[in-house]
Amino acid sequence: MSSSKIDLVIFGARGDLSRRKLFPALFQLDKADLLGDSLRIAAVARQELDSETFVEQIGDILKTNLGDDWSDKVWSRFKKRIDYIRIEFSEKEQFNTLRDWSSDQRALIFYMATPPSMFGLICQHLDEVGCIDNKARVVLEKPIGHDLESSKEVNDTVGQYFPERNIYRIDHYLGKETVQNLLALRFANRMIHSQWDNSCIDHVQITAAETVGIEGRWTYYDGVGQLRDMVQNHLLQLLCMVAMEPPSKVEADEIRAEKVKLLRAMSPINQKNVADQAVRGQYAAGWISGDPVVGYMEEEGSAADSSNTETFVALKVFVDNWRWAGVPFYLRTGKRMKEKVTQIVITYKDNPHAIFTDDNDEANNRLVIRLQPNEGIQLEMVSKKQSMKERLSLEKRTLNLDFLDPEGDGRIADAYERLLLEVLNGDQWLFVSRDEIEASWRWCDDLLQAWEDKKVSPKPYSAGSWGPSKSEILIENEGRSWYQVESDSSK
Ligand code: BG6
Repeated sequence: MSSSKIDLVIFGARGDLSRRKLFPALFQLDKADLLGDSLRIAAVARQELDSETFVEQIGDILKTNLGDDWSDKVWSRFKKRIDYIRIEFSEKEQFNTLRDWSSDQRALIFYMATPPSMFGLICQHLDEVGCIDNKARVVLEKPIGHDLESSKEVNDTVGQYFPERNIYRIDHYLGKETVQNLLALRFANRMIHSQWDNSCIDHVQITAAETVGIEGRWTYYDGVGQLRDMVQNHLLQLLCMVAMEPPSKVEADEIRAEKVKLLRAMSPINQKNVADQAVRGQYAAGWISGDPVVGYMEEEGSAADSSNTETFVALKVFVDNWRWAGVPFYLRTGKRMKEKVTQIVITYKDNPHAIFTDDNDEANNRLVIRLQPNEGIQLEMVSKKQSMKERLSLEKRTLNLDFLDPEGDGRIADAYERLLLEVLNGDQWLFVSRDEIEASWRWCDDLLQAWEDKKVSPKPYSAGSWGPSKSEILIENEGRSWYQVESDSSK
């Protein structure tokens, strides 16, 4: 249960993130009695609108989106928490309305669901009208910059008003159930942990594949690309959770310190190795689930004749430390791919000597950690076929651990529910520190520079495929292959 003396201020309350994620998550927290009795929500945006109309609009959106999770009873309580406050962000005077709404006895949490270019201005005006004290927390959405230098500027600006312990940088992947479960899997299971290194593990694959395209965000996305949009944050965070050393406690400082060490141990991809270790792609027209879809350049809003922006990235990454020396981590993410799936696959080494004549003896053990859909873990094992006709035949079987608790309420909480709850609780363990952001940008900047220096343009791939053929070659060159996604489990 969160502290009861907190108010939440959402800047950008009429934006996409607020409507799709923040209000539904807050509603679910209220439904689970996790919001505390007295939490108030100031929904701040620029449009002229009265509170009643705003609340009505949010109610309609929630009712449509939540389906069976909607509850009239919870809504009648939840809606009373919300006040709409109109503020033009460039007008300092207008922030006084928020000052009057707030109370010195309560801690304010400012959620910046706005473009990052607004963060500085909003902080400055909040400070000028006296809304920031040492209890105030700020929540920042990505992107935090587009390279190391610009990320430092964003962090310096926000850092003038809030100390690091009060800054919550969101990476919504850290709010996903499976990502937290990685800590439990690795560090609560001696059996798993004792075999988590280069003596037992052959390689690791991390895939975040999406079927969506760029969803009307062409102009924004074209200046960003998949490396900045997905790798710099989400995939590197997953890599950290898979590969970091055990923290001494499950506390923010300890976890973040281990993640920073890991990010700093990543071997750079630069001019020398970029051709062998990185693949860029851009989707062309194709088919997804039986429907035709256009290519990236034909997407709505496409403003140019050609674009050098990647919508797909595949990488072979090494971590230079004792635990992981020599173990490749293959990372792959793309838009308009065949299936929507996010998973981590750990492939164990072969047995040192084959004693069975059966081919299955050569099957590696594999641990598949599924983030979405169907959150859970599968362990592929080899066992004896149950048959009297055969002397000792082997077969591959799978142990399944489904994270959805059959006794629970039939749903796994959305990442934003967990993250909002942790902000309310004042716990930074699932948030990204400045050092992490800088270490991951430093690594990505090398790669971006290498692509630029070597003039690497993205290879086309058909929408609905698994990316350019070069991404297959990246892994197959070494006698490995991408783990096949089972289509029936990916709806
Ligand atoms: C966002 C990216 O951070 O993550 C989007 O900006 C992407 O481009 C999204 O679609 C993917 O999130 P999820 O949770 O659907 O994997």
